[in-house]
Amino acid sequence: CGIVGYTGPRQAFSIVLDGLKRLEYRGYDSAGIALVQENKLNVFKKAGKVANLETAVSGHDVSSHTAIGHTRWATHGEPSDRNAHPHYTPDGQIAMIHNGIIENYQTIKNELISKGYEFKSDTDTEVLLYFISEIKKNNACSLEEAVRIALKRVVGAYVILLIEPEHPETIIAARKGSPLVIGIGKGEHFLGSDASPMLAYTNEVVYINDYELAIVKPDELILKNIGNERVTPYVQKLDLELAAIEKGGYDHFMLKEIIEQPQAIFDSMRGRLDLDKLTITLSGIEQYAEQICKANRIVIVSCGTSWHAGLVAEYLIEELCRINVEVEYASEFRYRNPIVNEGDVILAISQSGETADTLVALENAKSKGAIILGVVNVVGSSIARLSHAGAYTHAGPEIGVASTKAFTAQLTVLELIAIKIAHIKKTIDEQQYAHLLKELSAVPDKVQTILDTQLPKIREIARKYKDARDFLYLGRGYNFPIALEGALKLKEITYIHAEGYPAAEMKHGPIALVDENLPVVFVATKDRYHEKIVSNIQEVKARKGRIIAVITEGDEVSKGLAEDYIEIPDADEIVAPILSVIPLQLLSYYMGVERNQDVDKPRNLAKSVTVE
Ligand code: G6P
Repeated sequence: CGIVGYTGPRQAFSIVLDGLKRLEYRGYDSAGIALVQENKLNVFKKAGKVANLETAVSGHDVSSHTAIGHTRWATHGEPSDRNAHPHYTPDGQIAMIHNGIIENYQTIKNELISKGYEFKSDTDTEVLLYFISEIKKNNACSLEEAVRIALKRVVGAYVILLIEPEHPETIIAARKGSPLVIGIGKGEHFLGSDASPMLAYTNEVVYINDYELAIVKPDELILKNIGNERVTPYVQKLDLELAAIEKGGYDHFMLKEIIEQPQAIFDSMRGRLDLDKLTITLSGIEQYAEQICKANRIVIVSCGTSWHAGLVAEYLIEELCRINVEVEYASEFRYRNPIVNEGDVILAISQSGETADTLVALENAKSKGAIILGVVNVVGSSIARLSHAGAYTHAGPEIGVASTKAFTAQLTVLELIAIKIAHIKKTIDEQQYAHLLKELSAVPDKVQTILDTQLPKIREIARKYKDARDFLYLGRGYNFPIALEGALKLKEITYIHAEGYPAAEMKHGPIALVDENLPVVFVATKDRYHEKIVSNIQEVKARKGRIIAVITEGDEVSKGLAEDYIEIPDADEIVAPILSVIPLQLLSYYMGVERNQDVDKPRNLAKSVTVE
């Protein structure tokens, strides 16, 4: 979910509405805004995207100087007007929005029901709100005090914002587990799940920490911990341009972000890879180089597309560094009582740095003495701050819900880490080291070549196959995780069922699906397995499957076998995944467009999943 707040001299409604549009990538099942107007609350909320809310509100008086807003990714309760945030107390005295999950809400709800409370929604948020309101009444205390008392009982993750007409200019905010940023203006304050809603107004922000509570007024920001002690806000300057989070003439963020990849990959290497001096500088990772080199294993923890980057890293690190790697879904790792010992190296990969499952898995491992390294895109995010060290991916803000440039930037940073460690550990020789640096430096230009030469062809292929019901994606070695990523992208953007598989494993099941209607995408660039994957292509061809192949330019054999092919520049197999994923991203994008899908905001998905 995304949250926004404003208090100050400007019209709060439009600031909060614009902020919600910027945060829609975090969820778009419903949206709502609460305003303080002439010492009364006014709440507007609507199922669906922020645009629905905007239409519903048009014509109403929305003048106000203090407002909070929410865009929801449904957890408890279906997406509906009733379950949309903000929620408010029946007496109209407090409105609240919430991002996260209250795990013990049922117990608290039962207590409140026994006291005669009735609930309008199915949400855990309404339970927390009534609980706070009940405490405020019983103790005749301030809202701030009531929030503090309530949060001591609450189990779960949250960011909450509350307003009350009794104090029309004040927003009370508290955080545990979900992100909260406060922007400092002149006589005004902005609140958001990330800095994007405030970027047009200020570049000075405070990242709120877990168990902190903020009392936000136009000209004052008071921070306290849960024990009611004052905390000095740490104001940081943002190094982010507004243009970086706008569409800039493209039809979709997804296309913009695909096209930005040569730059994003270059930025992730900038200041790190020096081809003249043959050096890689990764100061965070270098601090822990000794522990990494002597580690028995590295555990990679992540979700979604970041998990696929982790799989590529497994192949890379095992091959180059000769260190055993395990790649874990964060959600499984955190709950299965994993074996983590003091000094174990855990590598987290996350675009947002806020994914709840990844975050909690890391907290657990850290408490057992593990060294936590992070490969994270969002600077200052929770995972970045929890890590002992790491290397940021410098992909810039990624707004499209389906990850593209963040993925290739992750692969780039993981390549840098693997090559660096292998060089320190001397598991590769100087010649191989120099060769890999050269190959990696050439990637941005090669990605540019794909974008410059293959777009029309990929669009044509997308048109041709857009009505297929199922797709199979196959790859071997470094391209196996890319087959998984290609299938995931297709599912996300087009809602066509797709499966990714290791090409050789196909004969143990998926081959039963192959007939003259099934498109099979082979990621078949030239590498040590090339002959083997050509045999797999033959196997599909023999069963009349429709073959679409991503191949190395000039590969006449594969061209002859495929019904359609996309050519990419030749590259060492170690860096090839960064190239071979590009056509698959574009294929999904264009198929989504051809099918009139909302590619930037596919149904049911959210970019930053801050619930488990
Ligand atoms: C969501 C997003 C995916 C992303 C995954 C992990 O499912 O829609 O694009 O890969 O979360 O997110 P993270 O921010 O941790 O990389």
